Amino acid sequence: MQNRYEEALHRAADKFRTAIAPAAQAGIIPYKSEKGQWIGSPYDGNGWWTGGFWPALMWQFYALEKDEAFLREARRVEALLTGEFRVFEHLNHDVGFMYLLSCGADHKLTGDGQARIDTLHAASLLLGRFNPAGYIRAWNHPSQAGFAIIDCMMNLSLLFWASRQTDDPRFAHAARIHADTTLREFLRPDGSASHIIEFDPETGARVREHPGQGYALGTQWSRGQAWGLYGFTLAYLNANDSRYLDAAERIARNFMAHIRPDGLTDCDFCQPDTEERIDNIAGAIAACGLMELSKITQNAKYQAAAERLVDGLLEHCCDWSESRMGLLTHCTASYHDDGAGRHTNITYGDYFLVEALAKLCGADPMLWR
Ligand code: GLY
Repeated sequence: MQNRYEEALHRAADKFRTAIAPAAQAGIIPYKSEKGQWIGSPYDGNGWWTGGFWPALMWQFYALEKDEAFLREARRVEALLTGEFRVFEHLNHDVGFMYLLSCGADHKLTGDGQARIDTLHAASLLLGRFNPAGYIRAWNHPSQAGFAIIDCMMNLSLLFWASRQTDDPRFAHAARIHADTTLREFLRPDGSASHIIEFDPETGARVREHPGQGYALGTQWSRGQAWGLYGFTLAYLNANDSRYLDAAERIARNFMAHIRPDGLTDCDFCQPDTEERIDNIAGAIAACGLMELSKITQNAKYQAAAERLVDGLLEHCCDWSESRMGLLTHCTASYHDDGAGRHTNITYGDYFLVEALAKLCGADPMLWR
């Protein structure tokens, strides 16, 4: 008999199998679903940072069920993503999210040679953003040459992967230098992490913290906490440096202390209680990181917290109806800017929920390494 996680994972595979045709017919990379339709990215077309999560979902289900329909859909979108190499101007440090989970997953699961080359291409673009003053530049606006963000901890996996693939330590060196800077400059004494730190691009000296997608300067944007939690866990798995594990556990303790009684996750752990603002993507990402931490440390409290988060999502915020293309509801892109979605279904929320379910079922192909 299937347990509740196995049942949810296979039910999700069935739901997304039927959602492939509408996405392919629209010719888009699904970003979110509303009113029975897939909707593409809000900004930058196929170069928007979230484009890898739809193929990543397809690869998760392909790994689970070996249904070629998932493989074909993943490759349809990989062609759109690799087309962005020639557009170039929208690409930023999030090439890690975009290409490791799409082309990298393809290479990992099928051995496809072109997918490996495309993933190495993305890694070279990410390495090109490394400022030897000590950090990887996040975004492209001329005023943001010194900006680094906590999310980048997730993109470092692409660099570690490239060093293993090429037997060339350049990529991993850059990843470790960036992780060390993040450890030093982003982690706060209470175990929370800043979202954006600006450095002097000439000297690498810290200039200031900026408010980001959370409530305000100095608060705790929950998705940023989740990126830090999972990102430092992955850095530990890649670099075997106990300082990264320690950082991941500090962030995890703070995150676990803020899980709501219903298992859902507020958009910012310091947000005012005058208006409900939930971001379930943060909870799904954190569940994935906590599951990895539980395996590394053999500490059952991490698995228990991951289960609390996933149970909350399954109980309150999964829309299994046929009238909704995607699954996870109450995803919020940013506390103040609703242009990318507030309290709606967003595809990368679906991705991390499915990855968390796969981990709980012992079926995760681990696309991050
Ligand atoms: N990496 C950007 C975000 O989490 O919205």
